[in-house]
Amino acid sequence: MIEKIYNQKYKDIISNIDYYVEKFLLDGVLFFHDLELDKFQEWNLMCLLGDKVGFKPNSSFGSNPILPYSSLINEDHKNTFERYDRHILDNEIFIEWHLENLHKDTPQVAALWNMIKVTCPKDYGKTGFINMANLYSDLSIDLKNFLDNFEIELTFDTDPSGTLMLTNSKNEFKKMLAVKNHPYTNKKVLRIPLYKDEYNFAKDIEQNKINEIQSIIELAISEDSKYSNWIMWEKNDVVIVDLFVMAHAVKGGFYLGERIFSRIWAYEDNVDIVL
Ligand SMILES: [Fe+2]
Repeated sequence: MIEKIYNQKYKDIISNIDYYVEKFLLDGVLFFHDLELDKFQEWNLMCLLGDKVGFKPNSSFGSNPILPYSSLINEDHKNTFERYDRHILDNEIFIEWHLENLHKDTPQVAALWNMIKVTCPKDYGKTGFINMANLYSDLSIDLKNFLDNFEIELTFDTDPSGTLMLTNSKNEFKKMLAVKNHPYTNKKVLRIPLYKDEYNFAKDIEQNKINEIQSIIELAISEDSKYSNWIMWEKNDVVIVDLFVMAHAVKGGFYLGERIFSRIWAYEDNVDIVL
């Protein structure tokens, strides 16, 4: 269950930052009701939290007061809408379950999402989360031992900026450890894709292991999963999410322009921004 935090404003979070650092690392998601953050407050909050946790908000400008490029982007999921030739209903998956940029050596490890506009019904456009450290800890000892040193073979396509594209061709290939230690909690995290098209297993794996992994994935993303939690958005709600550990998905129901959030990515280190 993801707790929605009410009656807190920017100054309350800043003055209780150590409490929220601890909660962020424990829960993987901070979900605030009606924070009404402006762009500078978004950026300051991520810098302050990042200094305490260890991550860097997306900017090679560091904490320069000039707002970084990424925080000026408002996400309306236009690219995702363009993949579909029909309306995706509120009970259907709009964005598939994923860990952010799993194929990258330096993926995003955190994000702030500030929902600046929601005009669709409250239970449309829900965001779901699965804690991949909890999923790992529930595996059998046998499967843990197997996965601890196992490299999955990812196949995928990216655009020239390195962003994942959902195409059928899958021309790129990479081996990645299936289990990694969390950079800030040191917990073991299962880092595997949650929908099949993106990856292959190595050919010499026993079929029973493949079946076991696939049944765990299906259980995790099923409608009645004990691992998934869905949140409903209201205007000015803010999520700060640990993207190393939290896989996430979005359900449909909304139309282009009805659900827009401002976003800041964070990485283990500063990254250069290509404008
Ligand atoms: Fe994502």
